[in-house]
Amino acid sequence: MGSGDVGRRLGDGLIELGHSIKIGSRDPNKKDIVQWVSNHAREEGKGLSGTFTEAASFAELIVLATLWDGTPNAIKMADPKDFDGKVVVDITNPLDFSKGMPPRLAVGHSDSGGETIQRMLSESKVVKAFNIVGNPHMVHPNFPGGPPTMFICGNDEESKKIVTDKILTPFGWETVDIGGIEGSRLLEPLAMLWMIYYFRTSTGNHAFKLLRKPGN
Ligand SMILES: NC(=O)c1ccc[n+]([C@@H]2O[C@H](COP(=O)([O-])OP(=O)(O)OC[C@H]3O[C@@H](n4cnc5c(N)ncnc54)[C@H](OP(=O)(O)O)[C@@H]3O)[C@@H](O)[C@H]2O)c1
Repeated sequence: MGSGDVGRRLGDGLIELGHSIKIGSRDPNKKDIVQWVSNHAREEGKGLSGTFTEAASFAELIVLATLWDGTPNAIKMADPKDFDGKVVVDITNPLDFSKGMPPRLAVGHSDSGGETIQRMLSESKVVKAFNIVGNPHMVHPNFPGGPPTMFICGNDEESKKIVTDKILTPFGWETVDIGGIEGSRLLEPLAMLWMIYYFRTSTGNHAFKLLRKPGN
């Protein structure tokens, strides 16, 4: 769900892993989507587009890559039942652009976007992932310092394992699971840190890595 840079970039990566992707949008015929579908014309049936409801009903696993302010509407435009029981990878960052750039977090400290999404989709298994890096590095994050770390969280252990084993590891990430979905209270500010560095250096070529010494 989401036809922006994130939705299309992850769509590319997931098709490369052999999956069929239906990008959901309010307007599946918009230029960027038509171009994206045409880019995948040779992988027959793998790069598709549809409305939010068509994408949600098509999917075995749903990626939520919508603008924060539009996310409740996008979910409402799909049939909420199409989310039930499914893994929902939440990439959104709850950004407030009303005071200009850089944006601020619209929610935090005692709540988070991830928890908000989990409450909206109470029958889904929400996994917060990919929100702490710019879209050009989401797939194949090749950094000279080795694989960067993707911190993830969510309430369902099996869903986090699916996202790790089937998506993050094949893309080239090291994954660190920080616990339940309330971990989004940390991951969303971490995305702000990524963005602050981006605005101060005018470069998006950075990602986080957890360094460890051997032993305890
Ligand atoms: N850009 C990045 O590198 C990056 C990195 C990490 C996390 N994120 C987060 O990932 C999410 C997607 O980011 P993005 O840059 O790809 O795109 P975006 O511009 O934030 O979002 C585009 C998507 O949001 C949908 N949308 C916007 N307003 C809507 C509304 N009122 N009702 C329904 N849908 C609406 C658009 O629908 P239509 O297709 O109908 O226009 C489009 O599919 C955001 O939450 C962002 O904070 C972004």
